[in-house]
Amino acid sequence: MGYKTLCFGLFCILFAYCIYIPIPENIEERRKVQFLDAVMKMLSFMAKMFEHMGLIKYEDFFSIFVRMQLTKPVSDENITVIDTDFSDIPVRLYLPKRKSERQRPAVIFIHGGAFTLGSCKMFAYDELNRQTANKLDAVVVGVDYRLAPQYPFPAALEDCVLVIKFFLQDSVLEKYGVDPARICISGDSCGGTLATAATQLLQNNPEHKGKIKAQALLYPGLQFIDSLTPSHQDYEHGPFLSREIGIKLACLYVTKDTALPEAMHRNEHMPKGSSHLFKFVNWSHFLPEKYKKNHVYTEPTLGKLNAFYPALVDSRLSPLLVSDSQLQSLPLTYILTCEHDILRDDGLIYITRLRNVGVQVTHDHIEEGIHGALIVPFNLHLGLRIRDKYISWLQKNL
Ligand SMILES: *[C@@H]1O[C@H](CO)[C@@H](O)[C@H](O)[C@H]1NC(C)=O
Ligand SMILES: *[C@@H]1O[C@H](CO)[C@@H](O)[C@H](O)[C@H]1NC(C)=O
Repeated sequence: MGYKTLCFGLFCILFAYCIYIPIPENIEERRKVQFLDAVMKMLSFMAKMFEHMGLIKYEDFFSIFVRMQLTKPVSDENITVIDTDFSDIPVRLYLPKRKSERQRPAVIFIHGGAFTLGSCKMFAYDELNRQTANKLDAVVVGVDYRLAPQYPFPAALEDCVLVIKFFLQDSVLEKYGVDPARICISGDSCGGTLATAATQLLQNNPEHKGKIKAQALLYPGLQFIDSLTPSHQDYEHGPFLSREIGIKLACLYVTKDTALPEAMHRNEHMPKGSSHLFKFVNWSHFLPEKYKKNHVYTEPTLGKLNAFYPALVDSRLSPLLVSDSQLQSLPLTYILTCEHDILRDDGLIYITRLRNVGVQVTHDHIEEGIHGALIVPFNLHLGLRIRDKYISWLQKNL
């Protein structure tokens, strides 16, 4: 009894501490966000503590909360929802019921979760994909790719590419009544990383070139090589996604060795001989002035890690690492960035680089926005706004 009371007391003190960590003033629904941010910080603290005690792995603790949000495939009056496999990868399909004279557009959606968490079957993604199917009269494919650390790089990307290639077959498009000229690849957060890398791979492959009409990237992460961009510095503690949580989880896609996230935290994780890659992500060069504030660019320190991870120099992990000539042929692009997000600058740099080579980009920047708004609980108004912006862009452009 005394032990339980003590634990409860400590829990309350911790929560009170977390809720008093200030968050920026100009955030939409600030009180809700402050509460969510406190919950996230608490969970991370508990996850670290339990991992330290040998009870449960950090990422497994978080996945308990993801499992609570999984939904069954439930059809409604407008949409038939089916769980099936494409090339042995689980997918959830959203097929409009109404009769259509002409072929439909299609969206392949890749969910976020730092490569280690999440599922397209989570309530928020299910709702997003259902709405997309309904409002666009489109076929939507949610991809349940394999997760790290059990399946490290490039498993997640391989799964996404396999699903897309399966779907692009003439016989499959015909089966679902899809117009081959109206296909979009979308994703949020690390799903945005995967969508970007998959689009690059397909576009630079003669067999699939030109088959993707559009890509839509919602607060995507686009590089692993510079972890001290101005947005990483300004929003180090979140809200919602802190550098600590983001780096700790995402590094599991590369390795379970904790030396990597520790080095990445100090931005000293890149190997010797990788200095030529930094020109592709140089925020001093690519970031619009208003986002630089008073940050001063410093060249990163190389060669501090003993281990060498080939993934770190691979554009399939950091899609910003491709050359301009590989960007040129990319399709119509939508990118949404949120101000209060460590990944903000990844999106902004990609926009500059794409526009520099003539790719048509629509950019929505949400000044009061936070990372993950689409999937946080309690239906943030912000999440609905992001969803509406994304869907209305698709309606006009796909
Ligand atoms: C079905 O579609 C109609 C018309 O778009 C909409 O008003 C209705 O809310 C939809 N039903 C569901 C369950 O989404
Ligand atoms: C980054 O850009 C700045 C300013 O444009 C330049 O001075 C610096 O040499 C660049 N560094 C790299 C690694 O590209």
